[in-house]
Amino acid sequence: MLCLTLTESTIAKDLEVLERNRRFVSMSELRVDCLASGEMEKAVDFPKKAAMPIILTCRRISDGGKCELADKARIEILSRVAEGSFAYVDIEDDVKRRDLKIKRGEQSIDFEASLKARGIRIIRSFHDFEGVPADLFGRISKLAARGDIPKVAVMPQSMLDVITLFRIHDELREIKEKIVIGMGAYGVCTRILYKRCGSMLSFCSDNEAAPGQLSAQTMKELYHADSVNDLTHIYGVIGNPVLQTKSPVIHNPGFHAIHYNAIYVPFQVDSVRAFFKLAEMLPVYGFSVTIPHKRNVLPYLGRITREVKQIGSCNTVVHIQSMWKGINTDYYGFLEPLSSRLTDGTIKSALVIGAGGASRAIVWALRNHDVKVTVVNRTVEHAKALAMETMSAYDSLDHISAYSGSVDLVVQTTSVGMTPHEQDDASKGYLFSGKEIAFDLVYKPRETVFLRRAKEAGCRTISGALMLLEQGKLQFEAFTGYHYPSSLHPVI
Ligand code: ATR
Repeated sequence: MLCLTLTESTIAKDLEVLERNRRFVSMSELRVDCLASGEMEKAVDFPKKAAMPIILTCRRISDGGKCELADKARIEILSRVAEGSFAYVDIEDDVKRRDLKIKRGEQSIDFEASLKARGIRIIRSFHDFEGVPADLFGRISKLAARGDIPKVAVMPQSMLDVITLFRIHDELREIKEKIVIGMGAYGVCTRILYKRCGSMLSFCSDNEAAPGQLSAQTMKELYHADSVNDLTHIYGVIGNPVLQTKSPVIHNPGFHAIHYNAIYVPFQVDSVRAFFKLAEMLPVYGFSVTIPHKRNVLPYLGRITREVKQIGSCNTVVHIQSMWKGINTDYYGFLEPLSSRLTDGTIKSALVIGAGGASRAIVWALRNHDVKVTVVNRTVEHAKALAMETMSAYDSLDHISAYSGSVDLVVQTTSVGMTPHEQDDASKGYLFSGKEIAFDLVYKPRETVFLRRAKEAGCRTISGALMLLEQGKLQFEAFTGYHYPSSLHPVI
């Protein structure tokens, strides 16, 4: 189940948000701690208006909420709103028994018993914004012991913490109803793959109501998170940071289009070694690799292609014949838009700006196609090292003007000109003749100053967005064995 967290200040606004997201979720959580004081009365009728199962929650500040009241007064509010037809009420695990006794006139009511008598399920929640406690499994079992639904929302700080959350599925299998949430960047994969953590639901919201929450539309339409089952093949991308990656937008719609029961998830990874452990455990069938792990994965690969060996960097790993195989689709993604001009010999010479990791793949790809390359770089020693290895020429970036109009292709491989520094241009001083092809690896913005200058001079230009898409399509082929569906045009 996907559950929409509602944190607006009025019931009317909460209903508006719910209507907007209704088709993506099957239940909602009404966070009454976010409501303005006059709205509490209206909250009682919310479940009727919402017409779906609702969790009633009044979260205190220490657990990421807004309620400043002491527990006694907070539970009092909860009990009044709970007169409505809620399906669940969330009560934190450390609320004292005496605070759950409520005065109604002369009468003292046991709040828990009254909820149970009305068939309202209690969610017993535990939050840890600092990490994952060592006794997590014991805590879940204890919370479940009273017949309540245990909920743990914890903040994994590493891939090892994430592994702990994924172990819950098998190790606490006997607790059928439970809610497991990994918050923050490391936790995003556990939110999407919530079923593989043994969680009965995952929360989503329009406004990231808790750290790492994704929107309901993203959870439903991009990831189909609620359709994941034990047979779903898991793929992903590892990086640090990784959440900015556009790759899920390429792969998930692709899997869906070919009716492949598979999902592609971002994994924030600090330790590649730990990730390989998770990959064996889940299992993960294949994954993309982004900064800073393109070299770090190499020691774990049983087989690598010639390009990976030459470039010393791998951006795609697939599990084949009980072995991890590393390939580099950046290499082929770069070549793809140039392929006809490389084979017909139109491109004989190239100027490559930059001598970092991205540049290595490009220089090797060009050299393997017999193109004469000159590497220009800010730090000339870096250009020299790459040039020596690839039998290319090199120079300082300061001398770039000397190469104006003398090459068939200019490739810009640095991050200069990338959002938010759109005005910067690493090729300053180079004057385009209009005959050369200009290729920028930067994909945001689509038209950098470098590409604009080239276009104005009459050059053919290629944006990094095209290379990104091409390398993604090749990864898709490596993952699935199928061509990327031609009907799809992912916006990246
Ligand atoms: P990547 O793996 O994305 O290529 P990298 O290995 O850090 O990233 O390489 C960055 C490249 O961009 C390098 O060639 C770097 O030049 P230096 O070798 O002198 O560091 C280049 N670069 C980064 N910022 C730059 C800037 N402001 N002007 C010119 N070149 C720059």
